[in-house]
Amino acid sequence: MTAVALSVRDFEAAARATLDPVYADFIAGGARDEITVRANEAAFGELQLLPRVLRGNAVRSLDITLFGGRASMPVLLSPTAFHKLVDPEGEVATARAAAAAGAIMVVSMASTVAVGEIAEAARRACEGADPPPLWFQLYLQPDREITEALVRRATDAGCAALVVTVDSAVLGAGERNRRNGFHDLPPGLRCENLVDLRDGENGHVRQILMSAEFTWEHVDWLRGITDLPILLKGVLHPDDARLAVRHGVDGLVLSNHGGRQLDTVPATLELLPEIAAAVEGRVPVVLDGGVRRGTDVVKALALGASAVGIGRPVMWALADSGEKGVRRLLELLREELDDTLALCGASGVADLTPELVRFPSWGPR
Ligand code: FNR
Repeated sequence: MTAVALSVRDFEAAARATLDPVYADFIAGGARDEITVRANEAAFGELQLLPRVLRGNAVRSLDITLFGGRASMPVLLSPTAFHKLVDPEGEVATARAAAAAGAIMVVSMASTVAVGEIAEAARRACEGADPPPLWFQLYLQPDREITEALVRRATDAGCAALVVTVDSAVLGAGERNRRNGFHDLPPGLRCENLVDLRDGENGHVRQILMSAEFTWEHVDWLRGITDLPILLKGVLHPDDARLAVRHGVDGLVLSNHGGRQLDTVPATLELLPEIAAAVEGRVPVVLDGGVRRGTDVVKALALGASAVGIGRPVMWALADSGEKGVRRLLELLREELDDTLALCGASGVADLTPELVRFPSWGPR
């Protein structure tokens, strides 16, 4: 990148200019007509902020604690697959940047570096200080032994939570990928967490299977085999949010997979008030989808999210300038968040309440 990036948009443009168009499409694209991809971002633009003044907030705190682990900002790195597609160091570069920023990273099950190696890179980047929590994203696999082996790998790596993605009964129909003939990782890259998952296997890489067979009973089973906090990612209906709490889930990631699974579902921001009401504060809700600005973070937190996640922005920054790019991206969002808090008259994330936002076109809530 020649000019210094001043916003997520700059990273998006820079990535588009550098990347193979097939990979740029893989990142930017969504399912079918990409209506939900656009809706996620548009919702943040529609919602308005109504700030308070003269509240004396010279010092603002941005840090949060989730499941006992501290992070320096309420922005986490949502799980995204295949970082080595866009940077030779892949998830190692991302993890170092997240660790340096004190941000939680959710490692994708489809990472191109093994979760243990990613965790080690994060620890080294912190030079003796405690690194921020690393979480592991999981797709339940039809073979329970495989799921168990993955949970063991994440646990052994020191991951502090499991994020179970439940919106992927089948793989989302990304028509850009189909048109571009992008179906597989190029030679030399593989999903490292899926290598040698059973004793006696050698160099064997399993396919990540999507399946429509899963039920709440599988969540109960998972609850029984691990003590790690479990978050469900991709619950959109308030009734499912209530069910999740009843099944002992520890948190939700309110996500429509960045519009990459079922197209035409609502923007996550638009669903947030209903989901927050459904869980009644019993478990934290992390929102992702379309977060591009510090103002977006503030809006989601004001409506009840404990934190937000970013997906594509991380891939864009990584594609543009590797570890440095992701560090810069997180710094930018931190600066934007801090100045938005100041302009809203808030002294920290705990001050953010629904009174701070207005819904011009969605009607009163
Ligand atoms: C994703 N996402 C995703 N989610 C997941 O649970 N497991 C995964 O492996 C991936 N992989 C992935 C790859 C790429 C390239 C993208 C863009 C997204 C979804 C991701 O976690 C997140 O929900 C969305 O990306 C959030 O929306 P934004 O921030 O991209 O708008």
